[in-house]
Amino acid sequence: MGAIFQSLGRTVAAGVVLLVVFLVIAGLGTGQWVRINDHSWWAFFFRWLHVLSGVMWIGLLWYFNFVQTPSMPKIPDEQKPAVSKVIAPTALFWFRWAAMATIVTGIIVATMMGYIGKALTLQGGYHAIGLGMWLGAIMWFNVWFVIWPNQKKALGIVQVEPAEKAAAAKRAGMASRINTMLSIPMLFCMVAQQNGGF
Ligand code: HEM
Repeated sequence: MGAIFQSLGRTVAAGVVLLVVFLVIAGLGTGQWVRINDHSWWAFFFRWLHVLSGVMWIGLLWYFNFVQTPSMPKIPDEQKPAVSKVIAPTALFWFRWAAMATIVTGIIVATMMGYIGKALTLQGGYHAIGLGMWLGAIMWFNVWFVIWPNQKKALGIVQVEPAEKAAAAKRAGMASRINTMLSIPMLFCMVAQQNGGF
């Protein structure tokens, strides 16, 4: 048992195995099995992947804003590199790829549900998810084209002059705060669609 939890890969695999066990028990109990030849089951499957990646993305966004950024001024200067050279680059790796996985799976879900065009043009009945998708897309853009390029300068992954480094850190911080603000209505819109919309 301990061997499972000493490895992150094995821990995640154990989560998937646990899910399969639950599905088998549910299938045996109800006689209803996973319907892999059913389009709506696959739409549900991608919705699940979408929520998983969305949790990873927004979880890390909130970690940066609620934990890391407010803690930095309290950390002695000689210890700061532990965050800027080790923790932040790893967190940013999962952050930006989770953002990518979230938008890709979100677009797949909207396409499979047959409303992507109606949602993106904010047509009746699709206002909630349409607005949510636009907010999510702005946030994804911020991650890949504002936060990540500026963080590379701020963390020293890309070498720049000290003044540019400070300005980049400010730009990345501002975009991260904007994304935190947008995450509140965005998540409301995401869950609203399944619950009658606005
Ligand atoms: C770039 C952005 C995103 C796009 C294009 C997108 C797209 C979608 C779509 C199409 C749905 C299905 C709505 C429905 O028919 O009920 C959905 C649902 C959902 N999304 Fe997103 N989304 C994005 C970002 C996010 C993020 C960042 C999260 C964070 C966790 C998230 C969480 C959810 C949740 C919880 C649901 C509801 C699932 C359900 O009730 O079954 N989405 N999203």
